[in-house]
Amino acid sequence: MHKIRRAEPKDAKQVRQMSIDLEEAMFDLHKKNKQTIFAQKPVIASKHSVKDHAEWFAGMDGKKDIDLTHMWYVLEVDGNVVGYINGQLEKENVGHLDSLYILKSYRGKGYATAMVKKIKKWFKLKKVKFIDISVDAPNKPAQKLYEKLGFVKKTHIYGLKV
Ligand SMILES: CC(C)(COP(=O)(O)OP(=O)(O)OC[C@H]1O[C@@H](n2cnc3c(N)ncnc32)[C@H](O)[C@@H]1OP(=O)(O)O)[C@@H](O)C(=O)NCCC(=O)NCCS
Repeated sequence: MHKIRRAEPKDAKQVRQMSIDLEEAMFDLHKKNKQTIFAQKPVIASKHSVKDHAEWFAGMDGKKDIDLTHMWYVLEVDGNVVGYINGQLEKENVGHLDSLYILKSYRGKGYATAMVKKIKKWFKLKKVKFIDISVDAPNKPAQKLYEKLGFVKKTHIYGLKV
């Protein structure tokens, strides 16, 4: 049994850990792929404490979806939090899909697809007309996921290791 629900303060520790894992996974991907530049050493996710996350999630508490500018959902399978997605309104009519992570042993079961569809509904409620997401060049699984969901590539950001 799985459900996708809004993140709550009690999820703060797991979500923070998954965001650190996501950043480290991207760093490793860049390291493995000699064609691309190395990503920066992971530091961003860990800058935000469990308390920060708990405060963000508490800030959504009791508010209607339509009144939020940031949304965090978690994926719960058999009572365990095993994934998360978050998005925010960027500018008028544009939503930014910030991050998405599913724990390794839960991948390949359609959960990420369900998470993206869920946040897309929230974006639509917020009258968003365009959803932006940036994906690291070597992250083929994520590219396939988004393309399968109808996203199209709109820019290339080049990097040079100096
Ligand atoms: C990318 C990620 C979110 C996919 O999660 P998931 O729950 O396994 O995805 P789904 O089961 O919904 O898969 C949907 C589609 O994505 C693509 N996909 C997912 N994993 C893939 C893989 N390892 N290789 C190739 N394509 C893959 C496929 O097209 C798949 O459709 P299919 O099963 O019909 O072939 C997950 O691998 C993950 O958390 N990775 C690390 C974090 C990350 O990359 N996040 C995205 C940052 S932008």
